[in-house]
Amino acid sequence: MTANNPLRFVPKPDICQGHGSAELAMLDVYMPMMKSSAIVAAGRLGLFEALSGGALSASKLAGKLDASLQGTVALADFLVAAGYLQKQGDSFANTGSTQRWFTRAGQVDYTPGLLWTHEAWTMMGGLAECVRSGRPQQLLWDAMVDRPQLGQLFSSYMGAFASDLGPDLLAQVPVSPDHRRLLDLGGSHGLHSIRFCQRYPHLNAVIVDMPSALTETREEIERAIDDYRNNRFL
Ligand SMILES: C[S@@+](CC[C@H](N)C(=O)[O-])C[C@H]1O[C@@H](n2cnc3c(N)ncnc32)[C@H](O)[C@@H]1O
Repeated sequence: MTANNPLRFVPKPDICQGHGSAELAMLDVYMPMMKSSAIVAAGRLGLFEALSGGALSASKLAGKLDASLQGTVALADFLVAAGYLQKQGDSFANTGSTQRWFTRAGQVDYTPGLLWTHEAWTMMGGLAECVRSGRPQQLLWDAMVDRPQLGQLFSSYMGAFASDLGPDLLAQVPVSPDHRRLLDLGGSHGLHSIRFCQRYPHLNAVIVDMPSALTETREEIERAIDDYRNNRFL
């Protein structure tokens, strides 16, 4: 309400956007955390994937997730408020954007990014200590040596990015017939090298990364060679 017109509705700013606003000091901190944790929980539970075939009632959705009805409804209602799900009668459905970015039926499935965010959450909890000491308790890459499954997960997450952004990278990097060798340092999933070699068959790529990031790379390359021979490109 305003002094001139006490009945005029003044919308509040979107509390999940970063404003640095003193008036919304705690909301600016707390709500993005709640929103992020709800989306990550949906990814970990497979909620968006469960809805990828169409809308489901709360009880059917809870059954698919093997989760409690009460918890499923609370999470799904929150995701409706956050714009990630929509209500269809009594049922819940993915929004177009959720279907597109967080399911296997969409354009790119960033679910590994949600699972990675869950892992990063605890690491970021030690940020103040890192600042105090001047270094992290453990480098991310060293953590992946200790816990190889972390490297695999990160690699799938990077793979989602690479399938999304790879065509732009290919368009922006000029390659001449003189360029013969491509050194893909930290190449992980290998998708960038594969795309470049498919577009420029005279290139020879070497992908270097840690063992935990390379677990799927050989199969990816073999699949790409097969696709190339059958004229199916990335
Ligand atoms: C941000 S990711 C980028 C992955 C990929 N190039 C892409 O664009 O999607 C960085 C990569 O560097 C790798 N990396 C980090 N330190 C490394 C090291 N010392 N030797 C080899 N690879 C390393 C990580 O395992 C990770 O796969």
